[in-house]
Amino acid sequence: MTYTPHDFKLPTVEGISKETFDLHLGLYKGYVTHTNLLMEQLNTLAKSGDEFAYTIAELRRRLGFEWNGMRLHELYFGALEGKSTTLTGESKFYKAIAKQYGSFSKWLEIFTKFSARGPGWALLNYDTEADHFYHTWVADHEIGHLATLPTIIAIDHWEHAYLLDYAPGEKGKYVEAYLTALNWETIDTRFEAAMKK
Ligand SMILES: [Fe+2]
Repeated sequence: MTYTPHDFKLPTVEGISKETFDLHLGLYKGYVTHTNLLMEQLNTLAKSGDEFAYTIAELRRRLGFEWNGMRLHELYFGALEGKSTTLTGESKFYKAIAKQYGSFSKWLEIFTKFSARGPGWALLNYDTEADHFYHTWVADHEIGHLATLPTIIAIDHWEHAYLLDYAPGEKGKYVEAYLTALNWETIDTRFEAAMKK
């Protein structure tokens, strides 16, 4: 199994520079490369005896970091492809989020402010069993995931995602720029796919 980096076609985004995206896409490709490297090494060591037990354990731990880094960045960049769109009140995602939070705009205000110190990810997850959305904070790329829940939105809160464009204390402006640039039709498609699971 070998992963290939996606060739994202990103539009011009107000508030997030091309320099930031170029640097960030380079980092994303690094996660794909290292995921492949780790899987190759794990396969090589799979038939070894106890002498490599600690090496294998560490490689597996590291796989959680690199693999999740790869997949979260695909959700992050994938939601920007095409162009920024808005949702109609008839879309399934719009209706579901308004049902839980009172209105779409109330939820968007809460989610925009949702942030935490330290590198990591702000996620919007959806629990199909309970018909419930969760705002999840994932430290690094792998700590804090809610098992089995599909991710509908993933916002990168690592410094590399915004420090070329904003001061450290202006992370909120970066989050606003990202959410404004989202192709919400993609978000609706993700939500509809999650509901079918
Ligand atoms: Fe990132």
